Amino acid sequence: MRPSKGLNVAISRRGFLAGATVSSALLVVGADVASGTNALAAPPAPQTRYPLYVPPTVGLGNSYNLDAAPATVDLGGGNLSSVLAYNGTMPGPSFRGRPGETALITLGNQLPEETITHWHGMIVDHENDGHPVYAIPPGGTYNYSFVINQRAALNWYHPHPHMLTGGQVALGLAGAFIINDAEEDALGLPGGAYEVPLVVRDASLDSGGNLKYTPKGGGFLGSIPLVNGTREPYLNVDTALYRFRVLCGSNARIFGLALSNGAPFTLIGNDGGLLASAVQIGQIDVSPGERVDVLVDFRGLPVGTTIMLRDQRAGWDLLEFRVTQQVSDPTPVPTALSTITPLTNPVRTRVFSFDGMSRINGQVYDVNRIDFEVPFGDVELWRFVTNGNAPHPVHVHGTPFQVVSRTNGRGQLFPWESGWKDVVLLEDRETVEILIQFSAYRGEYLLHCHKLEHEDMGMMSNFVVV
Ligand code: C2O
Ligand code: CU
Ligand code: CU
Repeated sequence: MRPSKGLNVAISRRGFLAGATVSSALLVVGADVASGTNALAAPPAPQTRYPLYVPPTVGLGNSYNLDAAPATVDLGGGNLSSVLAYNGTMPGPSFRGRPGETALITLGNQLPEETITHWHGMIVDHENDGHPVYAIPPGGTYNYSFVINQRAALNWYHPHPHMLTGGQVALGLAGAFIINDAEEDALGLPGGAYEVPLVVRDASLDSGGNLKYTPKGGGFLGSIPLVNGTREPYLNVDTALYRFRVLCGSNARIFGLALSNGAPFTLIGNDGGLLASAVQIGQIDVSPGERVDVLVDFRGLPVGTTIMLRDQRAGWDLLEFRVTQQVSDPTPVPTALSTITPLTNPVRTRVFSFDGMSRINGQVYDVNRIDFEVPFGDVELWRFVTNGNAPHPVHVHGTPFQVVSRTNGRGQLFPWESGWKDVVLLEDRETVEILIQFSAYRGEYLLHCHKLEHEDMGMMSNFVVV
């Protein structure tokens, strides 16, 4: 079975003309940027860079319409690209809520094919989970209503229609869903302009500069990086402590994040929220669906300094930080962060073999087939193995889990895999074990490979918490 070729988004003349004024306004911004660069009297840096886009934030409390539709956006430089977007922005609006708040969101499908939205990392019941069985047709709507009942974390949302997810995500449909809570507040972490979501992904453009989806050999690898939908982005920073909420939003690519000046990140969180304690670390690998929460300290750096966020794997420059303003920032770098209660004493073990590019335990996904049942409240050990074709970023819906071991292959666990996770990277030859306990809802959930082409080809399984 082949993954969908995805939507063919043609640029419409109407969309292009409508964007003409936007385009010239942005060209003026681009000129300012160029002269600012010259004024630094640094070695010549011929590359023009564009201001990092930060999507609008949406609070919970009022009902909110979220429309998935073709759109034209500026990836940088004022040229408009045809993409798919939630409410016209790429990434989509960042939702932000707290435990006890209710999300009332109506998804509208303005795409020419079916879609459904999954709230990745959100602990919600089956009806709110964006299972592909609930995919809505073009013109359809789906009403979500769920109460936030989990700790602070960076979660996200993206399409989940069977066999169409890869194309819709690659063409632009994804956004952040941030939960804050009292435990996190008490740490006094950087906030406001000093807390920045970074959705890191790769992309390919056609000759007209529009996003295109061209999966090859079981995975889509784009030719350029985008951060928050901006190509060659820069961010002006103060001499302050910053908190970056990083989401790997690629279909298949793994990023090896590092800073060009060799400074470490202070890693404070991952998929499921805060770690037990902060870790200084020079490189962090993130695979599709994984998140990391890092602090970067620009204090003590002279104005005019630039530091690049790099991807050590592809050798890509992802985002240039430009230290532009001297401030005094007393924010402490925390060490102790949270209490992680370990899951223990699993009552049973399940083995899942990620086979080829399209099967789990020998079976291709069938939306109507339930593959296993998990008793509510039981701690279980799940063992992930593979016979090749990795990476397989393994993802579970319905609850976060704890990673307890990796043998063979890389043969170790990494600091960003401590605490609570909902995606864990399984590479060739590796065996990865997790402990998992479903204690929020009964109902049907998904286990799948988050390499979206594998997911679309059928490397996905339905199970029911009973
Ligand atoms: Cu991020 Cu089932 O997906
Ligand atoms: Cu998910
Ligand atoms: Cu896979």
